[in-house]
Amino acid sequence: MLEPSADEIRAWSNSVTQFMIDYLGGLRDRPLYRHTSSREIRDGLDPALPAKGTDFDALLKVFRDTIVPFSRQNAHPRMFGYVQSPGTPIAAFADLFASILNANLTIWRSAPAPVELERLTIDWIRQILGFNAGAGGLFVSGGSMANLIGIAMARQTKNDSSGRLRIYASSEGHFSVAKAAALLGIGRENVRNVAVDERFRIRLDDLVAKITADLEAGYVPFCVVANAGTVNTGAVDPLREIREIADRFQLWMHVDGSYGAFAVLAEAARKLFAGMEQADSIALDPHKWLYLPVDVGCVIYRNPEIARAAFAYEAEYTRMFGEEADEAFVCWDYGPELSRRFRALKVWMLLKGVGLDSLGAAIESNLACAGYLESMVRASDDFEMVAPVQLSIFCFRHVPVQLRNQSPKAIDGFNERLLVAVQRDGSSYLSNATLSGRFALRGCVLNYRTTLRDMEILLDDLRRVGRKEDVRSQK
Ligand SMILES: Cc1ncc(COP(=O)(O)O)c(C=O)c1O
Repeated sequence: MLEPSADEIRAWSNSVTQFMIDYLGGLRDRPLYRHTSSREIRDGLDPALPAKGTDFDALLKVFRDTIVPFSRQNAHPRMFGYVQSPGTPIAAFADLFASILNANLTIWRSAPAPVELERLTIDWIRQILGFNAGAGGLFVSGGSMANLIGIAMARQTKNDSSGRLRIYASSEGHFSVAKAAALLGIGRENVRNVAVDERFRIRLDDLVAKITADLEAGYVPFCVVANAGTVNTGAVDPLREIREIADRFQLWMHVDGSYGAFAVLAEAARKLFAGMEQADSIALDPHKWLYLPVDVGCVIYRNPEIARAAFAYEAEYTRMFGEEADEAFVCWDYGPELSRRFRALKVWMLLKGVGLDSLGAAIESNLACAGYLESMVRASDDFEMVAPVQLSIFCFRHVPVQLRNQSPKAIDGFNERLLVAVQRDGSSYLSNATLSGRFALRGCVLNYRTTLRDMEILLDDLRRVGRKEDVRSQK
């Protein structure tokens, strides 16, 4: 098993290929989610410490019978929860190749072609965003890590150890920003939550007021985080205006585009992102709207020298000898990770294999699906929107006739029970958001398989499940 023969490898791959064909072919008919318990899953897993090996077929059987059915089927076309990509077959093969080669992208010398491929794909992403020619970047584990890198770079530009650094983000910003501030020693309490408007975009007047008040109180404003697609509602902040404010107060502008930024590939959404290319740094997640499997996040920055100043670290055991500039490239000088998986391969295989035109069309179709759901909700008498659809996220609630005159608390309670019941039902999957203090059902279309018909099925599922007695009554 540690080193299988050619025949064994062939037999394993045949079984895996067959599994993949059956799994993807039957995806629509699978329950998206199965209500289960920790106990039920543990019962399917032999807990004994394995002194002797087990053959591949037996491992595959556990995967097929226990792991697959008790996982949420993230590739299912009606998986609308969170910000979940479906993965793509081409990237599954890329991940396999990456593991076969097991390249470790620490420095150019350790993985020459993989590092070149990372540089190439990072440069493609730079071009997609419209960033300056000298910009650089890295693939990282996800948007949270990319936000941390952007904020670490921002801090690098202010040489201040007073403990009074202040960072500004909208109240709708992702929690990874506050986490990054805590991890970097800036302090969660120094992340100022800026108010949002009725479309959940940052309010520029409140941003300026907070910066000004902080300056007067002796704080040191250093960074503003703008959203290119908030996690709750998909709001895109006014990026150009934020750039102007950042310039006025000499702040670093970081954009959190983890969810939304790749929607710049869709004609219908492009204008929303004007000004994004002027940011100092941006967090992106190819494992969201490029449909790739986890994990691959990405950070792009205007000035790689600032990343180097923030992260470079020289140790004798990693010192390099006799390399020219390009070949002397040290990945760990530009981010926090040392060992790094060959994430670039799946990005490259996707972009090169599928092409930007098809990706843009798929994103466009996701936007259309969310827009269609919004129009159906607005035309209905038993659903209502809680926020306008801006990209592919939709927040709404179900208000059947008999609930119409009930209190907001009763309506929220019903929708909370409905959410859990729909998740357990297994035909469609939503998550939730709290907006202006009220509970909302929240969905995000992030799958190239999702169709307009799936949006109709989602509403039918909610109506069907909502009619059940235990969902209606307060337990
Ligand atoms: C806007 C936004 N920022 C950051 C993140 C964190 O990304 P990750 O889960 O890849 O760390 C998310 C995740 O959903 C997000 O939606």
